[in-house]
This record gives sequence, C-alpha cells and structure tokens, in this order.
Amino acid sequence: MNNKITIAIDGYSSSGKSTMAKRLAAEIGYRYIDSGAMYRAVTLFAMQHNMISQSGTPDKDKIIAALPDIKINFQIQDGTQSTILNGVNVEKEIRQMAVSNNVSPVAAIPEVRHCLVAMQQAFGKEKGIVMDGRDIGTTVFPNAELKIFVKASAETRAQRRFKELIEKGSRASYAEVLANVVHRDHLDETREESPLRQAEDAILLDNSNMSLEEQNAWMLERYKEACSK
Ligand code: DC
Repeated sequence: MNNKITIAIDGYSSSGKSTMAKRLAAEIGYRYIDSGAMYRAVTLFAMQHNMISQSGTPDKDKIIAALPDIKINFQIQDGTQSTILNGVNVEKEIRQMAVSNNVSPVAAIPEVRHCLVAMQQAFGKEKGIVMDGRDIGTTVFPNAELKIFVKASAETRAQRRFKELIEKGSRASYAEVLANVVHRDHLDETREESPLRQAEDAILLDNSNMSLEEQNAWMLERYKEACSK
C-alpha cells in the first residue's frame, strides 16, 4: 500500500522554505523538488541563448519556442541536490544574482509555467514528495495532503540571502539583495498567471523569529498530523 502523501511548501523568496523542505524530505525519506530551481534553469538557458535583453526583458516567443529543448533534472551527490540543465550541473550558476534579477519576468510567461507545472506534476505522480515554490499548493498539487505557506519580513529574508551569497563568495551588497527581495515579492504577487498567494487550506508559518531547529520540529509535527488524518 502506498500511504505516502504530497507536501506543498509555498512562500516568499528566501523565507527558508527550501531549507525546511529539504530537511523534512531527508528525515521522512521523501523526494525533494525545488521548483524555483526549474524557473531559474529556464532563465539561465534564456540568458545563455541571448533571449533576455540587457534591460531584462525576455523574448517570450523565442523562449516558448525553445521549451522543448530544455531538459531539467535533479541529481543527488554527497547528500546535496544539484539542478541539471540539459546534462550540465548548473546549481551554482542558477543561484547568481544575474539569474535572480532576470527570473521573475521569465516565470510570468504562461507557457513557461504550463510546461514546468506539467514537469512538476510528473515528478509528484507517485506521491512521497516535498515540493517548494510559489504555486505548489494552489496550482501544481491542489489536492496535496499537507500545504504550508511560509512568510518572514523582507529584512529577515534579505539578511538570510545576503549571508548565503557572501558564504558562497559572491560580492553582493545587502542593499542590493533587499531591493531584489522586495522587487521579486511584488512581481510574484502581482503576476497574472498563478500569483503567489496562500491556498485556503494551507497552514501559515511566520518564521521571522524561529531557529532552524524550531522550524524543523514544527514541520515534522505538521507532517505527523497530516499522516494521521
Ligand atoms: O524560490 P526561488 O527564489 O529560487 O524562485 C525563483 C523564482 O521563480 C522566483 O522569482 C519566483 C519563481 N517561482 C515561481 O514563479 N513559481 C514557483 N513554483 C517557484 C518559483
């Protein structure tokens, strides 16, 4: 009997949802999928093929025409998950500020979303999956047994992303990171196709003042509750 469930974790950028989702998946033996990495991979592909102008405007027609040529997979190596774009490990590149700055308009293209949502649904066919993103509980898996919506203040999130970038050797400034977080919130919330919003049946978590351990313990409790329903 397959009694595994589907877990959707949505929320604002840099709210710590990926860390929580990854940890939970490892703990309960589920597959973890970072849907944001898929939008980042399509954006990187578009940048590599000159489909985004200097001012950040994507050439929608070219990107839509290229979708069948974009293959995205995930690979686990030494316990860390990497994003593979057409056979190449792009995990590091997709986290760069240049990609962060270009991803929102690409993620707003309806055809891009339809294509990635179909891939995401295929990944989740067998259940036993934790997926994080913006529209997982609303669009990708509306019937998920457990839905979490994570939020934290923009400053808290910018601090986290800034720390992450510095640790990875990037030279971004805090002001630049904060501006990017605020700008992406706005774009994610106001786009026409699948805007970021909390599903009606999602449990809200504001983790601004929570430690990682507290978050993980909280998440595990919600999982146990969902399984016992
Ligand atoms: O979670 P992230 O910052 O890596 O996501 C990158 C971008 O992709 C973000 O600007 C919003 C978009 N995204 C989306 O539109 N839908 C998802 N399910 C996941 C991410």
